[in-house]
Amino acid sequence: LDPSQIRAELLAWFDASGRALPWRLGQEGRRDPYRVWVAEILLQQTQVARGLHYYDRFLEAFPTVQALAGAPVEAVLKAWEGCGYYARARNLHRAAGLIAADGFPTTYVGWLALPGVGPYTAAAVASLAYGEGRAVNDGNVRRVLARLYGEARPTENWIQAHADALLSPTRPGAWNEAVMDLGATVCTPKAPRCATCPLSAHCAARASGTPTAFPAPKVR
Ligand code: ADE
Repeated sequence: LDPSQIRAELLAWFDASGRALPWRLGQEGRRDPYRVWVAEILLQQTQVARGLHYYDRFLEAFPTVQALAGAPVEAVLKAWEGCGYYARARNLHRAAGLIAADGFPTTYVGWLALPGVGPYTAAAVASLAYGEGRAVNDGNVRRVLARLYGEARPTENWIQAHADALLSPTRPGAWNEAVMDLGATVCTPKAPRCATCPLSAHCAARASGTPTAFPAPKVR
C-alpha cells in the first residue's frame, strides 16, 4: 500500500463527505483548543450522535475555559448529567483551573500533563488545534487499519506503528478525523458500507470477502 495514495484518497473523501461537527469550526489545524478538548473528552465514552446534544448544552453553560474554571464543581457535574463517567467532568474542571492560570498547552506532551488527558486526547487536541503530527488511536482507527491491512489480531504496537506511518504530514488533524469519520460512518463494525468506501480498492479485508472478520473479536 502506498501511503501517499491512501492519504490522498481518504482526505478527498473527507473533504467531500466528512461530517460537519461543532468542534470543526475554523481553520484546519487551528481549531479552538477548548472546543476540541471538551469534545474529545465527551466522545471518549459517548457516540457522536448521542454526544452532540450534551456538547451544545455544556458549551452553552461554559462557553470558555475561564467560565469553566470559575464555576463551582457542582455546576460542572450538573451540566455533565446524562454523560456518565463523572470523573471526566471533575478532571475537566481541574484542568480548566490549570489552563486558566497557565494558558493552553500547545503540544502533545503539554496536553498529556493535564488531568484526564491521556494519549488519545492529547493526540487529538495537538493535531486538530495545533497541527502537530500525532496519530490518534481509538476503536475506529483500530478497525479501519485492521481491515485495510487484513490484520486479524492487531496489537497496540501494530496499530500505533501503522497509524504513525499513514498519518498525513501536511494535514494531521484532518487525517485523524477522516479515519474516525470513516470508521463511524462507512467502515462500521457489523455492516461496513464497502461499496461507498474510498479505500475499498486497497482493502485486504474487503478482498478476503469477509471484512467483518477483521479485527477478530477479542477473546478473554
Ligand atoms: N470521535 C471522537 N473524536 C472525534 C472527532 N474529532 N471526529 C469524529 N469522531 C470523533
